[in-house]
Formats: sequence, C-alpha cells, structure tokens
Amino acid sequence: KQDGGMNRVLGTFGLTMLGIGAIVGTGIFVLTGVAAANYSGPALIISFIIAALACGCAALCYAEFAAMVPVAGSAYTYGYVALGEFWAWVIGWDLILEYAFAVSAVAIGWSGYFNNILCVIAFINIHGVRQSATVNNIIVGIKLAVVALFLALGFSHVDAANWVPFMPYGWSGVFAGASIIFFAYIGFDAVSTAAEEVKNPQKDLPRGIILSLIICTVLYIAVSAVLTGMVPYLEFKTTAAPVAFALQAVGYHWGAAAISVGAICGLTSVLLVMSFGQSRVLFVMSRDGLLPKFFGHVHPKYKTPARSSMLVCVVTAITAGFLPINIVAEMTNIGTLCAFIIVSAAVIVLRKKNPNQVRAFKCPLVPLVPLLAIAFCGVLIYMLPLVTQIRFVVWLLLGLAIYFGYGYNHSIISQARRGQLGAAPIPGTAAPAEQGVHEGHPANH
Ligand code: ALA
Repeated sequence: KQDGGMNRVLGTFGLTMLGIGAIVGTGIFVLTGVAAANYSGPALIISFIIAALACGCAALCYAEFAAMVPVAGSAYTYGYVALGEFWAWVIGWDLILEYAFAVSAVAIGWSGYFNNILCVIAFINIHGVRQSATVNNIIVGIKLAVVALFLALGFSHVDAANWVPFMPYGWSGVFAGASIIFFAYIGFDAVSTAAEEVKNPQKDLPRGIILSLIICTVLYIAVSAVLTGMVPYLEFKTTAAPVAFALQAVGYHWGAAAISVGAICGLTSVLLVMSFGQSRVLFVMSRDGLLPKFFGHVHPKYKTPARSSMLVCVVTAITAGFLPINIVAEMTNIGTLCAFIIVSAAVIVLRKKNPNQVRAFKCPLVPLVPLLAIAFCGVLIYMLPLVTQIRFVVWLLLGLAIYFGYGYNHSIISQARRGQLGAAPIPGTAAPAEQGVHEGHPANH
C-alpha cells in the first residue's frame, strides 16, 4: 500500500492545516513585492481579491469532485472520470506545471529568505523532516504565527500616504498583478491528493479545501494592505524578501529575522506538500498507462514512488537554478489555471452525464459557479505575459506529442480496447489487475 501506513489519520483540522501548509509560501512572502512594485501598486489588495474569486469558484468545483472521487490523482482523475483519457492527460500534463514548477519557484523564493537568516540557520534542522500531520501542524503554526507577528508589528506603521497613487499601473496592472499573485493561492487543490489519508473524505475534503482557502484569503488581504501601507511600493523592486524588508524598513530588525525563520519554515512545507502531490499524480498517471512504469515504481521498503520523487527533485532543482522566479511562477500559474478551467467544465459535464451519482458535496449554483471559475481563470490567463502564453502552448504541444507517441497506445484503456485485459478497468481510479496496486477506493481500507 502506497500510503506508507499513514492510513486515514486526517480530519477536517489536519486537512485544513495541510491546505494552509501548501498555500502560504512564495506567493505571499516573495511575489507580493514583485507584483506591488511592477503591476498592482498599493492596489495589490484588489489583485488578491480578484485571484481569490477565481480560486473560490474553482475550489467549490474541486470540492464536489474530491467528495465524489476521493483518490490521490486529484484533478487528473476528475478529468478522467468526467471527460475521458485525452482531457485527463491534458490536466495531468498541466499539473506537472503546477506542482513541479511550483516546487522550483518556491525553492527560488526560499533562497531569497535564506540569505536573510544565515545567522540563525543553526537552529533550523529541516533536513530529513518527515511529512506527517504533526510536523505539518507545527510548521503551519509557526507560519501563521509569523504572519500574525507581521500584521501586529506592521499595523501601527501603516502610512496612508503610501497608498497614493492607489493604482499606478491602472486596472490592467491590477489584473496583471492578480495573474502573478494567483500563485499565492495554489495549494488548496493539493489537499485532494491526500484523499487516501482522510478519515471521512466525503465530509472532510470539501471542508479542508474551502476552509484553508478562506483562512488564507483573509490573511492575504490583511498582509497586502499592511505591506503596501508600510513601504512605498516602488521600494519592493529591490528585495526578494518583501515581508521582512518592510519590517526592517520601519526598524524591527528582530521582527525581520523572525519573519525570515517563519518564511523558511513556510516555504519548506510548500515544497514538501507540492513534491508529494507531484509524485502522487505521476504515480496515478503511470498506473493508468499514460506514463512509463518508471513513474509508478514503488520503493519496496518505503512504499513510496521513490524514483519519480527523485526525478522530480533533480528536474525542479535544475529549473530553480537556471530560471528566474517570475518565469517559473508564471508557468505554474498558467498550468494551474488551465487545470482549474478543465475541472470546472468537468463539473458541468458530469452533472449532465451522470445526474444521479451521489454527490456528498455539491458545488452551489451549477452551472453559474463553474462558469464564473472558467471566466475568472480565463481572464487571468489572458493577463499573463504573451511570452508565458507562448511557452504554455509549446508545453501543451510537447504534451500532445508524448500522449500520441506513447500514452495513447500504452494506456489501460487502449489495452482494454485491444482485449488485452480480462475486465475493463475503471478509468482513472483502478489499476489493471496484474499490477496489483489499487489505491483510492475507501472500500479497500
Ligand atoms: N501557494 C504556494 C506558494 O505561494 C504555492 O508558495
């Protein structure tokens, strides 16, 4: 069993903490500065609200699927169930952008704060931390504490003069800023990759997804208001650690050091959860035959997809080392936005195709909410730089080449078509019998 013995320990609280663990990271600790200085100005808060609306609508769609199909493949599996193998592949290919590129972007963000805390590095022994609910809860506790500390210290140093001009780059700047800081919200969907460690997935998954998003949205809006009030937005051009920078600027050097420690913890938990999510998605794609067996190989002792985890580690480290953070974060965003759009469309399609299926959580106002998710995410994709859109098209074409060159002929669906399997597999959720790996159905635990 691939869960490594961590069977169904998480409840709503643990899941919400996992969500916050995956969400609060480079987006709030690093990209706020980039977005405020170059796109949004003090209207950063509006950018955060726009991105929150896109994520909120998408989260409701994710919640419906997560409660209905609680398996580790997350959006990839939802796509499979609702739209079939081709769209599943497209989502899976997008999720590689989301998870692997997020890991790279966060690794780059990590180094921004790392430079800031070399004096206290002795106190941090992150190496070898096992991702368990307890460790995550502690890390998230620290992370939330430093955000609270920032708000408490920064609040009295807000100077309303820094909010003028409020929109130096106009509405297009505000939307462009939203398309960048969208990154800060990514991670609530990673909650659904933990589906198999949840006690009562039908109830806990939707709550974990939605609660973690709500908590982070409130924090982000507060942080962006205080941050842009403390320092003139243009000064953020000079720093890779804006939250610590702002505290330093008003004289709290100890506060800046504490924030840096917390940010390092926070970024580390994002790295852990995102790498975890990536290896899970690759594992499920390989199990469905869309990727070579290499990615689905399970380590005999640790019961984890160790080879694909190693590969993810090497590739993300190289990406982090050679590319600037904005390129990597923008690729993460466009991949995630595209996955959100397909999942939202899948909710509408499955309601039509399969109206009587039991839905433990129902997205409200279908099709309005999924359509709003599609519209918001579409606008954010549109607002990303043209060069990012072109890179994404190239990425998709590469994905299609791999699909038609490999997956199309190797998938369990195609094997079933050719009569090579005894019984037709359940797409996206079950392995062919001879592989003997079957994770995902609560009934199996
Ligand atoms: N939302 C995560 C972060 O900001 C990916 O680091």
